[in-house]
Amino acid sequence: MAWQGLIDRYRERLDIAQGAEPISLCEGNTPLVPAPFLSKLIGAEVHLKYEGLNPTGSFKDRGMTTAITQAMFEGAESVICASTGNTAASAAAYAARAGLKCIVLIPDGKIALGKLAGAIAYGAEVVAIRGSFDDGLKMVRDVTRHAPIALVNSVNPARLEGQKTAAWEVTEQLGQCPDWLCLPVGNAGNISAYWMGFHQVKQSPQLLGAQAAGAAPIVRGHVIENPETFATAIRIGNPARWAQAEDALRESNGKILAVSDSEILKAYQLLAQREGVFCEPSSAAGVAGLMKEAEDRPDDFIGRKIVCVLTGHGLKDPDTAVGQNLTPTIINADVNELLKHLERDTK
Ligand code: F0G
Repeated sequence: MAWQGLIDRYRERLDIAQGAEPISLCEGNTPLVPAPFLSKLIGAEVHLKYEGLNPTGSFKDRGMTTAITQAMFEGAESVICASTGNTAASAAAYAARAGLKCIVLIPDGKIALGKLAGAIAYGAEVVAIRGSFDDGLKMVRDVTRHAPIALVNSVNPARLEGQKTAAWEVTEQLGQCPDWLCLPVGNAGNISAYWMGFHQVKQSPQLLGAQAAGAAPIVRGHVIENPETFATAIRIGNPARWAQAEDALRESNGKILAVSDSEILKAYQLLAQREGVFCEPSSAAGVAGLMKEAEDRPDDFIGRKIVCVLTGHGLKDPDTAVGQNLTPTIINADVNELLKHLERDTK
């Protein structure tokens, strides 16, 4: 049967209203792509869970199908979220599908262009705040206490219900539970959701979470007032699912580490240029974390089955992609000029 989305596929394992009509864009079922270059580098079997191939280009769609389905079932007429961009685009798309009004709060000037484009195209009301994601999340939590608007950030349990399905897909595709699951950590919803998913089917990979060094509250053990990183999706100083992420890390015998912007950039370039897999900068943080830890403690990784979750598509952030590589060479539409150019390249 054709793929119809996560709720149809997994409904009996999800804690959402069983009678609800699914609001779906056929999310999930993303490929697990082998990573031969990384595998050789680390001496392990590395795979990439390419979540950028979800309908709006990020893993958020897994949680949004369940959150919007649940909100509709409960009679909501509008939904709201704070976002570094991907949640906004995803909420906007699923709300459009459901016929709900959608309001998104974003940190002004700190979201990647492809995400803003998505939110606008899907018809959301975009409100840019002079503040951080953390400020925005506080505002939407407050406002939904006073107004009849459904909150669809990952503090909403229905979000994690959908996101935990990725853990089951990884195991099905790999043919076994991975030894390590590496992923970026921002608001810490996703790491919590993966752990819920694995726990539910009694599996236990070690989790390796990575935060950007300038936005690493869990690693540092305190709130970061002014988080900074070029990986804007994870530019978060006070994660809502902090405690749950720490439980997941402890129970999985996992690790959380900080990776610098230059380490993230290096992993981002390696993924695109060596593996042919284009993800957004934040998504490469998990791979940067793996590369760093495998260098420091190779024996923990050699010969292991490792899955890195690439949370969002590279096209989400065209400025970073184009910015690092100058402008293309421009020539006349003349074959001799092309030949001259190619000769210069091979010299
Ligand atoms: N990777 C990407 C591409 C993201 O957009 C996010 C979070 C994360 C990783 C981290 O996931 O928050 O569950 O720990 N983006 C949120 C947003 C905050 O608003 O789109 P997390």
